[in-house]
Amino acid sequence: MYPNQRNRRLRESKAIRALVRENQLSVNDLMLPLFITEGRQVKEAIRSMPGIYRISLDLLKEEVKNAWSMGIKAVLIFVKVPDKLKNNTGSEAINPKGLMQRAVREIKSSVPEILVMTDVALDPYSSFGHDGIVEKKKVLNDPTLEILSQMALSHAKAGADFVAPSDMMDGRVFRIRATLEEAGLHSIGIMSYSAKYASAFYGPFRQALDSSPGFGDKQTYQMDPANRLEAITETIRDINEGADIVMVKPGISYLDIVRELRDKIEVPIAAYQVSGEYAMLKAAAENGWLNYHDVMIEQLLAFKRAGANFIATYHAKEAAKLLN
Ligand code: PBG
Repeated sequence: MYPNQRNRRLRESKAIRALVRENQLSVNDLMLPLFITEGRQVKEAIRSMPGIYRISLDLLKEEVKNAWSMGIKAVLIFVKVPDKLKNNTGSEAINPKGLMQRAVREIKSSVPEILVMTDVALDPYSSFGHDGIVEKKKVLNDPTLEILSQMALSHAKAGADFVAPSDMMDGRVFRIRATLEEAGLHSIGIMSYSAKYASAFYGPFRQALDSSPGFGDKQTYQMDPANRLEAITETIRDINEGADIVMVKPGISYLDIVRELRDKIEVPIAAYQVSGEYAMLKAAAENGWLNYHDVMIEQLLAFKRAGANFIATYHAKEAAKLLN
């Protein structure tokens, strides 16, 4: 009790604050999402995500070399698929010469040590912009699992270290794991987007990949933002199906879910600070309303405090620069 106890003693100097600091943020905590597009020497700005670009394969080499030299250990790959290659079954997703498969090979040939994780979901390949096969305006679950597992397999064959299913179909982790095992690809990991909410924060990302749903929304497969217990169920099921890493998405508005899972499960937890969260901070900073760097680091640290092992974030390179 006061005055025997004074909280401020532990805040008196920089040195004592460093000694008692409970969480640390380092470049090891950062995963860099990358958007890939067809073409040569293409570097297209994404309007709602200042500082983030869609790049062509020839620029990808430099990009990952640069990220690796900054200490970034992992990238998460997304591709923008030309409209003419989109259909209802997303069949381009399993093309061994598809953009994703070429991107993975490109990265592995320039920086073999960097960890490559690939997005597994149909939406960028779907003529309906949905994460599954559509019939009579419904997104079908079981028929989608086959193409998702073949997609994961083709990413693994191209050299991906982890596949990251973000589609929220039931049973996809199980099917992907079984398919990889059957192919003898025992060491390919699965990072499952386990607690992925039907969030309006994905808006800028869907602009970036031209992947907005053509009808309806994603509420029959992504989670209701009102739910907490369901996130635990989803995540435990994914772990039982064979997920090595689980993910909470979006990030900042869902840190309670990160903490909830951290207290209940043992596998590593990733959190995704999504496009809309990035856009909000950029917009505030461009207006001079916030100190960009300070808020960025504070938010990234908040992920660590909530219990995330690492963070997929569009801030990764800027944060790495500050942390080095
Ligand atoms: C695809 C996918 C989405 C994101 C990651 N993978 C969009 C969606 O589900 O509609 C969002 C990432 C972001 O907003 O930064 N299934």
